[in-house]
Formats: sequence, structure tokens, C-alpha cells
Amino acid sequence: MRILALESSCDESAAAFLEIQGGQLKRLEHLVASQAIHAQYGGVVPEVAAREHSATIPPLLAELAKRVVGESAGPKLAKQVDAVAVTRGPGLVTSLKVGFDAARALALAWDKPFYGINHMEGHIYANWLPGGALADDWGDNSDRFPALVLIVSGGHTELLLMKGHGQYELLGATRDDAAGEAFDKTAKLLGLGYPGGPALSKRAERGNASAFGFPRPLISSPNHDFSFAGLKTAVRYFLRDNQKKLTGARFVQDVAASVQEAIVDTLVTKTVRAAVKSKVRTVMLAGGVAANRELRQRLAEALAAKTEAELLVPPLKYCMDNAAMIAAAAFFNQKRRRPDSPSRQAVDSNWELGR
Ligand code: KG4
Ligand code: ZN
Repeated sequence: MRILALESSCDESAAAFLEIQGGQLKRLEHLVASQAIHAQYGGVVPEVAAREHSATIPPLLAELAKRVVGESAGPKLAKQVDAVAVTRGPGLVTSLKVGFDAARALALAWDKPFYGINHMEGHIYANWLPGGALADDWGDNSDRFPALVLIVSGGHTELLLMKGHGQYELLGATRDDAAGEAFDKTAKLLGLGYPGGPALSKRAERGNASAFGFPRPLISSPNHDFSFAGLKTAVRYFLRDNQKKLTGARFVQDVAASVQEAIVDTLVTKTVRAAVKSKVRTVMLAGGVAANRELRQRLAEALAAKTEAELLVPPLKYCMDNAAMIAAAAFFNQKRRRPDSPSRQAVDSNWELGR
């Protein structure tokens, strides 16, 4: 099975080619073009993102074709593709449409099966990509299920029970901001630019995580929900009261470390509690914030101390948005369900897993 996949849900345009034969990954080519233009606005501007996708996806496809069949144009690529997949949602509707329309035009023109894929499911399947613990587990049955999945991205923070391929039950979700948003918004307040997660965690490495106590809403509540909006507000008031200190590198590092500590502590505490309750054998991380080293390390330690569950984390290069993860999710989709109609299906910007 050879799958061509596109991803354009937010501000990354991505294309990938994935080949699985006999339960083994034979080939993976993937390209990601990040839209640096949004940094000047301090966040993603939907109209700008859509325009960038329109400009980027055709040359990205041409480059992918060159890698796969040695030619950037011509009929060769179509012969190498068994199915076309694309992110159908959730995401920014104007961004989603650009990749979706490109992919379904290809599926129609080439007469190939077409799969609209959930972006969050894609993040989960990043755990199957090269360098991940599940890289050689492309067969029908996995003994890893049921698995508890912590999805932490720019727009989502969710705990899901994954009972099998494509079977999700939502256990809890954020009531306001996502964990990635908490990283991004506090980084912005600290003047660290956009996207702020990587920049904030870099500053945090040199800071004192217990320098300042920031709130951890819902950390002790027995449900599986999260809330991060209060953290941003607390940081804003704290910085307003300590404005003069913002010029000091040490102060910024300490605030970054303390903010990261509040986010990681909350995520780890609630995930471990859910793992104990649901008695899962596997816990999986997924989404951009899964790249956070402190989260990866602390979650591994806490799970080892309190459960028998094994922690799986996606390879760093596949944590952020990419099309390889969409192709991986599509591979398992085509095993269990019929293709979608490229002419009738539409994007779904609010598509939630397991609800
Ligand atoms: O999954 P993703 O690439 O896009 C969405 O689907 O939203 O996640 C992006 C989010 C951003 O909020 C970014 O700041 C955050 O992931 N992120 C990080 C790190 N790397 C990316 N947050 C904390 N630490 C990191 N190392
Ligand atoms: Zn994402």
C-alpha cells in the first residue's frame, strides 16, 4: 500500500509518501514547509495562512514527486500511488480547504481511493513513524491496546482511551486554552515570539522551576479535564507587577521554568491518575507539545513510579504538524473502512475524536 498525503490544517504545508508492504514500512518521504510569516503578527493569521498554502503546496508536491519517481511533473507519480489522504479537520477552515481541495482533485483525476483524515488521529499515529516505539507494528493486531493517549497541541489538550485502531473514547479535555496555547501565550507575554513553546522551554532549561508558584487549575479534581486560561492571566498580572525585572535574563528564565513546571505538573498528574484508573498497558503522547523534553521525562518517571504502563513518545521530528503522520493514520483507516467520496466530502474544522 502506497499513500500520498497532504496536511494543511494550520500554518504548516506538508506532503508525504508512505509505503507499507507485508506489515513493514518500506519507504517514507516527507516534506514540511513552515510559514515563518506569522511570527511578525504574533500568531497565525488565517487568511495569510491560506494564501501561503496555495503558493506552497504545488511546489511541495512537485518536490515530493521528484523524490519518489525522479521527476517533478508527468504521469509517473500517479502509477506509484494506491491511495490519496489529506487532513479533513480539525483546524482552520481556510487552511484545511487548500490541502483538501488539492488532494481530492488528485484523487479524482487519478481515480484513486481517497481518505479524509482527522488531524489529531494523525498526531497519534506519529508514534508509528521511524524512530518511534511502534515503527515496526503495522500489522493487524497490536498488543499495546487499550492505550491512554495524551494529546497536547496548539489547539487541543485531551485524554483519550484508544481501544484499538480508530476506536477512541474521550475521557477529558481542556475547558478553555490548550497546553500549547498556554506555552504560546505566556511566551508572548515574556517577549519570546511565536510559536512560543520551543522558545519558552529553551529558556526554562536554565531557570529555577520553583522560583514562582503559578496556578494549576483542576489538578486535584477527580475528572480528566484541564484548564489553562487562568495560568496565562496569572502570568500577565505577575509580569505587570514585575515589569522592570523583564529585562533580566535570569528573571525570564525563572518565569519560563516556573510556567513550564505548572503546565507539565498538571499534565503529568492528570495523565498518571487516568492511567491508574483505566489500567492501561500503554500511554502515548501526541501533538506538538509532545516535543517538550521536560514533559517526556517527567511523565516517564511518574508512570514508572505509579503504574506498569509503558510510555510511548513520537520521534521529535514528527511531533509538530507533518503529512507523514496523516499517511500513517490513513494506512490504518484504509484497513478498516471504505474510502471517502472526493467529490462529496467537505472539511470539518471542528471534528473531534471520540466524542
Ligand atoms: O501539533 P502542533 O504542531 O500544531 C497543532 O496541531 O496545534 O502543535 C503546536 C504547538 C504550539 O503551541 C507550540 O508552541 C507547541 O506545540 N510546542 C511546544 C514545543 N514544541 C512545540 N511546546 C512546549 N515545548 C516544546 N518543545
Ligand atoms: Zn497539530
